[in-house]
Formats: sequence, structure tokens, C-alpha cells
Amino acid sequence: MIFTVAIDGPAAAGKGTIGRAVAARFGFAHLDTGLLYRAVGAKGGDPVAAAEGLVPADLERWDLRSLEAGQAASKVAAIPAVRAALVAFQQRFARAEGGAVLDGRDIGTVICPAAEVKLYVTASPEVRAHRRWLEVGGDEARVLAEVLERDARDMGRADAPLRAAEDAVLIDTSAMPVDEAVARAISVVAERMEGLR
Ligand code: CDP
Repeated sequence: MIFTVAIDGPAAAGKGTIGRAVAARFGFAHLDTGLLYRAVGAKGGDPVAAAEGLVPADLERWDLRSLEAGQAASKVAAIPAVRAALVAFQQRFARAEGGAVLDGRDIGTVICPAAEVKLYVTASPEVRAHRRWLEVGGDEARVLAEVLERDARDMGRADAPLRAAEDAVLIDTSAMPVDEAVARAISVVAERMEGLR
């Protein structure tokens, strides 16, 4: 079966948690596409060469989750040739036999416009910054500033800007516990699978 769940949304909205839970529930493969951009940013040097030469071991670096790696990722992610170098891998992953969940910024709009399910997961900047602060620690005001700066860059870039696909289901997790957000996502996927039978 070929079945793609595309999950897009701004920084720290809960895409990863929802993506992992949906993948586990349906036995689908899961790709956190943000890791690809984080790994390209963390490699340093020429970002296009880094994207073209990306290997699985690059995704294993311990420091990819830091605020600095997030900033570096969103800077290299605005370079069209970097994005172009990562498209084919993501599309193969999305349409591989067995089902796939991909989370990122442009999955439902650019990488897989034919995805069977598109979710747009969001929350207020303060809620998202608070969640990210629980993970990374430090100064919460700085985490909020980082989140806002990255959102502005991701939404404002010319190539594949972050936006909800027209046919995406919106999940606003500002006032929603994580298990409720996961349950909502799972029910959207289950309904769609039922509809395709
Ligand atoms: O975990 P968080 O939502 O904070 O970020 P991420 O998903 O790891 O993505 C890091 C950065 O990579 C984003 O700020 C985007 O600039 C970029 N990205 C992108 O441009 N397209 C994607 N499909 C995924 C990430």
C-alpha cells in the first residue's frame, strides 16, 4: 500500500510527536525532514555540497536538536539548490510501499501534493516556545525569540515557504493535550483509509 501522511507546521508545534505516534499506530515509516536541513546546516562549508553529499550518518549527530542547529537549518533551507538536492529522497520515502509519515514545512505543498492525508499542526508562539524550552532549557525569552525568528524566515522565503496546503486538516494544539492531538491525527488517517477501501 502506498499512503502518505504529510504533517507541516511551524517550529515546535508537535509535528514530531504526532508523526511518530501516527507512524507507530499504522506501521508506517516516519521521516523527520527537519533533520535533513539541520544536518546540512551543521555540516558547515558549502551548504549545496553538504546537501548533495548528505549520508545517513550525518543525521546521527548529537547536536542537531540545539537552537543553533535550528537557526542554521532555516538559513540553508532558504537556498533553492539545497531544497532541490533533498527532494528526490523525500519523495521516494513518501511513496515507498508500506506507508509513510513525513513532517516538515513543505510536505503537503511541494514534496507530496498527492498525500492521502495532510495535517497542519500549529499552536501559539508562546505555547510552542514553552514546549521547546522544556526540551532545551536556558532562557525561555531567548527560545521564544528563536522560534519567532525561524517562523518568519520559513514563512517569508520565496522557495517552498511554510503554509498550510488548501486541503490540510488544521490541528491547533495551543490548548490541546498531546494525547488528544495524537488521537485527532489518528482518526483523520483512519477515516481516510476507510474512505479508500
Ligand atoms: O523541530 P522544529 O519544528 O523546531 O524544526 P525542524 O522541523 O527540525 O526544522 C528545522 C528547520 O528546517 C526549519 O526551521 C525549516 O527552516 C527547515 N525545514 C524546511 O525548510 N523544510 C522542511 N520540510 C523541514 C524543515
